[in-house]
Amino acid sequence: MKITNLGSRDYASFYVACELFKQMSQQSHSKLGLATGGTMVDVYAFLVDLLKKNQLDVSGIETFNLDEYVGLSASHEQSYHRYMNDILFERYPYFTQSLIHVPNGDADDLAAETKRYEDLINQQGPVDIQILGIGENGHIGFNEPGTDMNSTTQVVNLTESTINANSRYFDNEDEVPKQAVSMGLASILKAKRIILLAFGEKKRAAIEQLAKNEVDKQVPATILHAHPDVEIYVDDEAAPRF
Ligand code: F6R
Repeated sequence: MKITNLGSRDYASFYVACELFKQMSQQSHSKLGLATGGTMVDVYAFLVDLLKKNQLDVSGIETFNLDEYVGLSASHEQSYHRYMNDILFERYPYFTQSLIHVPNGDADDLAAETKRYEDLINQQGPVDIQILGIGENGHIGFNEPGTDMNSTTQVVNLTESTINANSRYFDNEDEVPKQAVSMGLASILKAKRIILLAFGEKKRAAIEQLAKNEVDKQVPATILHAHPDVEIYVDDEAAPRF
């Protein structure tokens, strides 16, 4: 695992957008593992620009999102499905709908939904590149501290720290869903290549934990030490200070 400080959010976002673009242009049937959240906003903006400028054929690209809030429909303003539509799939509307996968947080039978999603990853995967953000508490996907290293897609309870961090997108904290459907740590590790991005001072403590080179169940992202192909890109503020 290599942690590289690319200086700024802009540089790092553009770099990762280029990596995704390169993967998609070199293999027209690439499989991408996608993340949402504030960290990814500029990555998708740069990616859409690159796709448009080059009119890339994305009809064979298959995408798998990491997670979705429980109880929010795909069209709900704050759902991750809606985020993806707004930020990528509707801005470059040439993806094949049936190849876009986001867990359904609004499923009647969530246990069946988690199984369906994990089966899908196993049958259609592995993904070529998985992009990840990181929580202030070190979560990846919504795998909160203490998550089992062997976890597969499951319903998770969000911690206070995550609910609080995510409340910035809702009118008030009471509206933030308390659960999510998330790919597990083992599901994430199935990807061939993993790129994690972290921006801002609030992420520095989590990145410093990663820099220690030890797997610690209380910092879920440290499980990435068990994967052979992980790159981490940060800005000046998130870069380790020791
Ligand atoms: C989002 C996800 C989360 C976020 C993390 C950071 O799909 O899986 O792990 O990447 O919570 O969120 P932001 O980028 O909003 O700081």
